[in-house]
Amino acid sequence: MTLDGEARLAGVLGWPIAHSRSPRLHGHWLAQYRIKGAYVPLAVHPDDLERAVEGLVALGFRGANVTLPHKERVAALCDRVSERARRIGAVNTLVVRDGRVEGDNSDGFGFIENLKEREDAWEPTRPAVVLGAGGAARAILVALLEAGVREIRLLNRTRARAEALAEELGRNIRVLDWGTWDDALGETGLLVNTTSLGMSGQPPLEIDLRALPASALVNDIVYVPLETPLLAAARARGNPAVDGLGMLLHQARPGFEAWFGVAPQVTPALRQAVLEA
Ligand code: ATR
Repeated sequence: MTLDGEARLAGVLGWPIAHSRSPRLHGHWLAQYRIKGAYVPLAVHPDDLERAVEGLVALGFRGANVTLPHKERVAALCDRVSERARRIGAVNTLVVRDGRVEGDNSDGFGFIENLKEREDAWEPTRPAVVLGAGGAARAILVALLEAGVREIRLLNRTRARAEALAEELGRNIRVLDWGTWDDALGETGLLVNTTSLGMSGQPPLEIDLRALPASALVNDIVYVPLETPLLAAARARGNPAVDGLGMLLHQARPGFEAWFGVAPQVTPALRQAVLEA
């Protein structure tokens, strides 16, 4: 669509930014809903982050997504930070309203909305197992606690990182040693991998699923490849499984709606468009 002065502008701030799939994702929605607007990749060096955020306001941007390595630091540059972003300790969505920058985090929202694609298979009342204790795990733990999960078993190669997260986020998180799969997996309703293991170019996640109930939902936040060895192993033994791409697609919804005024839908065509990137 030809743009004129009424075009609504948004983008994604990151360093590097070349591999971000967000421009393709939002570009698909802009075309689908025939919105006069643009969503552009913005390569912002860490030294320039503050000026870049001021620049968004000066240039009349409606807002932006924020990705690595800026998600934690950008919170201090916002005029307001949402409660969930504060709990997660990171901001991935900026919305400019009346010249003020509001920071939010939609990663946990995207994670839960993705699981809802198999709502039939997920029982939040049963314990959940989370592997990993990095930034992604943090957003997911906050989201699971908000969704009412009463017991989360957290396993990380570096146990101290898991313990620090558990201490901060509350009593419902129990830390177990990495590799103690039989103890961790019994009676669980959900298993989530938030580590980089299984991603193309990384070692596989070596996990023994023997103790995992056949009804437990399995989710990997890795989406390259889409079908990770963990998801393949889970499906092979009859477990329901959800791939990681949906989290990326669903986390984009709140920003798009705030900037462009349309609540967008996650469809098979969107998945296809993003996968072709
Ligand atoms: P992100 O913010 O994307 O979650 P991160 O903070 O680098 O990224 O975290 C990566 C996660 O993958 C961590 O939980 C990491 O474990 P450590 O805390 O012990 O580093 C986990 N991870 C990476 N490589 C791993 C490996 N070879 N074996 C086990 N866990 C691994």
